[in-house]
Amino acid sequence: MQEIKKYVDANKQRFLDELFELLRFPSVSADPKYKDDVLKTADYVAEKLKEAGADKVEVCQTAGYPIVYAEKIIDPSKPTVLVYGHYDVQPPDPLELWKTPPFEPTIRDGKIYARGACDDKGQVYMHVKAFELMMKTNTLPCNVKFMIEGEEEVGSNNLGIFVKENKERLQADVVLISDTSMISLENPSLETGLRGLSYLEVEVTGPNRDLHSGVYGGAVANPATILAKLIASLHDENNHIQIPGFYDDVLALTQEERDALNMAPFVEEEYKEDLGVTELWGEKGYTTLERTGTRPTLEVNGIWGGYIGEGAKTVLPSKANAKISMRLVPNQQSDKITKLFTEHFEKIAPKYVKVKVTPHHGGEPVVTPTDSVAYRAAQKAIADSFGKDPIPTRGGGSIPIVALFEKELGIKTVLMGFGLDSDNLHSPNEKYDIANFYKGIETIPLFHKYFAELSK
Ligand code: BES
Ligand code: MN
Ligand code: MN
Repeated sequence: MQEIKKYVDANKQRFLDELFELLRFPSVSADPKYKDDVLKTADYVAEKLKEAGADKVEVCQTAGYPIVYAEKIIDPSKPTVLVYGHYDVQPPDPLELWKTPPFEPTIRDGKIYARGACDDKGQVYMHVKAFELMMKTNTLPCNVKFMIEGEEEVGSNNLGIFVKENKERLQADVVLISDTSMISLENPSLETGLRGLSYLEVEVTGPNRDLHSGVYGGAVANPATILAKLIASLHDENNHIQIPGFYDDVLALTQEERDALNMAPFVEEEYKEDLGVTELWGEKGYTTLERTGTRPTLEVNGIWGGYIGEGAKTVLPSKANAKISMRLVPNQQSDKITKLFTEHFEKIAPKYVKVKVTPHHGGEPVVTPTDSVAYRAAQKAIADSFGKDPIPTRGGGSIPIVALFEKELGIKTVLMGFGLDSDNLHSPNEKYDIANFYKGIETIPLFHKYFAELSK
């Protein structure tokens, strides 16, 4: 521990400078205009892994953005940790809401503000620097493989193919991921589950063209009105989702599991204050922590139609659209939920409009084990570096590839994230505490150490 601290202290500024360089690449995977930047980011990650001492560093081409692979095998008889992360980021829009530009990392109040600061470049880079530390101090206790992808924020489709085609090369004893949140530095925690996802788009079409809303208003259904009604009908007065069969496969938690989850520190007043709301909203019968971590939800991510420009235009739109996502929990299945939604939506559509449902990406929910050697190693590592045992929590976000690692490679995951839910992921002014960044770099070598020791 002393040696780790010493190395981090001696290299603090350089670690930060290198992370800033990484954050300056606008590696937005969703928008083709950033293609060159995304590709350069992959090269930068590869170069840094090489410099840190990794072997077989390769920028693996896919049908989309490349996957950076690297490894250090010190002894095939020792356990192997597969580190997964992503170098792509979400679009920075709306730009006008950023206090400083998203791709010019800036420190304010001990926090790094930049798109990707927390999700996931800042967290990926902790692993690169922790690896460098173990190499330079001759303390790497097990084999390490890195797989850093560039399409996580758009569904990881090509990574799915890569995993199936590279089963041998990816063999490992555990997948270690830092791409989730902890409660706080004072209350370290480990996420033990991720929700799945079913994402789709709906289109409601009325008349064959936009109409004058005075001449035709009153004679034909307005698709925007109908879309609003259809969407409103998807939740009942208890905020329960009204799609037949939606809850059929949901595993109920035992009372003990619910009690354990609700033990996590959570101050509702602070939560509301941070979000600027006076009341919370959610499915009746569950606490906020249960609603976000263990219950499925349905959200409208975007809704549009008709005139949304400056001033007023009197128009009865021909079409209205919405992007809708459903977060899933064990044992719901993404494809099945997409099908149930589609059937339901088509059924409830009134005759005077046409509806079209187009599925986007999906992903399966996971629960990670808390009785494994790897989980115990993460617990011990955090207890050492934070001076406190981590609290197990359930995360509301999704990392679809985790379920695939389990299915295709037979490897379980440990989610050792160092972000905070309030880090503005996917939002303007994304941030990452510098303290969390360094804490991560200090904790990761301890994970490797305990994982190697406990695996014996
Ligand atoms: N790192 C997040 C997921 C996350 C964040 C998990 C916080 C737990 C806590 C990841 O990059 C992400 O944003 N995933 C997407 C899904 C993807 C298919 C676009 C998500 O959750 O919306
Ligand atoms: Mn992420
Ligand atoms: Mn993300």
